[in-house]
Amino acid sequence: MPPITYNRIVGAGIGSFMIFVFFFGTFHHSSRESFKQLTEAAQSSASQRLCSPDSPVFSASRGFQPAVSSLFETIKHSLTAPDYTDAYGETFKLEHDTVWREPLGSNVLIIDMDTRSPDGKNEVLGPNKLNWETATGKEGGGMLSASFMNHFLYAQIHGYDYKFFKAESLEPEGLHNTWIKPFVMGRFLQDYQFVVFVDADATIQHLEVPLEWLFNRWGIGRNTSVAMPIDTMQILDGNKNASCDSKGRVTLNTGFVVAQSLPLTFEMMEAWKTCPDENRYKGCGHWKKNWSHEQRAFSEYIRYDFNPDGTNIVEIPCDDAMGYPGLHEKAPHIISDCHGQFVRHHTVDKAMTKNSTDIAMLQAITQTMQSTLKYNRNSFMIDEKKSKSIF
Ligand SMILES: *[C@@H]1O[C@H](CO)[C@@H](O)[C@H](O)[C@H]1NC(C)=O
Ligand SMILES: *[C@@H]1O[C@H](CO)[C@@H](O)[C@H](O)[C@H]1NC(C)=O
Ligand SMILES: *[C@@H]1O[C@H](CO)[C@@H](O)[C@H](O)[C@H]1NC(C)=O
Ligand SMILES: *[C@@H]1O[C@H](CO)[C@@H](O)[C@H](O)[C@H]1NC(C)=O
Repeated sequence: MPPITYNRIVGAGIGSFMIFVFFFGTFHHSSRESFKQLTEAAQSSASQRLCSPDSPVFSASRGFQPAVSSLFETIKHSLTAPDYTDAYGETFKLEHDTVWREPLGSNVLIIDMDTRSPDGKNEVLGPNKLNWETATGKEGGGMLSASFMNHFLYAQIHGYDYKFFKAESLEPEGLHNTWIKPFVMGRFLQDYQFVVFVDADATIQHLEVPLEWLFNRWGIGRNTSVAMPIDTMQILDGNKNASCDSKGRVTLNTGFVVAQSLPLTFEMMEAWKTCPDENRYKGCGHWKKNWSHEQRAFSEYIRYDFNPDGTNIVEIPCDDAMGYPGLHEKAPHIISDCHGQFVRHHTVDKAMTKNSTDIAMLQAITQTMQSTLKYNRNSFMIDEKKSKSIF
């Protein structure tokens, strides 16, 4: 009987619409409220700076992001393409199920966190116009200026949220500052499906390749809590095991961390940040200030306890997200020649962060120009041989 079926469909439709509205509303409300508290101070100081007479005020969320996104529309790589070929002609394949088929957009937060801030002379948040040519890219504000711009642009292109979390020092707590990661990531996972941390000396190399494609390549699934790259192997003071945990397994590097908001992830972040207390992990206190701090603690303890299905923690290949081209020649003590094919991590030569930012940004603009010129050549190219004489 058609009318009943029709009514059922309408009823079910209205029902699910209301459930959807309820959850959507709740999620957005709570996320906005909690985020507001955390960033109130930051926003008021930022708006003061923005309203100085010589700097134009625009809304980053309203106009800028869609404009950037549409500028790069022609070169954006599909989320589910079976492979990707870079500008050197090297091809990378999807090796796992294509789990992520829809854009995640603002469900993803790309976060920079640092106790330093690039607000000095010739730095991105500094008082004067940035001179890119003379900017040094040196460790500190120079390096931060380069990498933050790279991370920010990547987020604008793909519609991810971006934040810079200027952290307070953990030294008074007796911890090295890099321990901030599990605290801050755990906090922002309350508001986002994915939180992606990129270190201040790391750059996203192919700005047109979305995270969803990389998640598909690396096997980050719906049940994956955390993904990090396998560290480069290095010899330190003659110790060939310097990059290994006490079980002889190569450590993971926390220079690039993908975390998904799942119950297990919150347990993991809690265990990680409380690791040095030694309530759960005897011996973890050693890594409070000794290298490699939170990174070693994660590799030594957490990764063995929070991977029940084998896919809850994904180890990203070293060549994909560690090192950069020329690393091994420059630093022979680093045995694995990882090229940072998708995420370059300039651990030993921090100033190279700016070089990689140069290449990534110019390459993206170049590709945009190339595709526009090439595919619209009929509208601005006059081929004298083919056309009738115009003289
Ligand atoms: C994720 O984990 C849940 C609970 O452990 C399980 O039921 C589900 O099949 C898993 N999903 C995938 C895609 O592995
Ligand atoms: C290096 O690791 C291997 C395997 O875990 C172990 O047999 C060896 O003793 C370690 N060497 C040093 C110098 O720690
Ligand atoms: C750091 O390592 C040194 C040398 O192994 C050790 O003596 C010291 O106790 C460690 N620091 C902490 C906080 O455990
Ligand atoms: C990085 O860029 C600077 C400035 O353009 C240049 O002088 C330097 O040679 C570059 N370094 C490498 C290793 O390419």
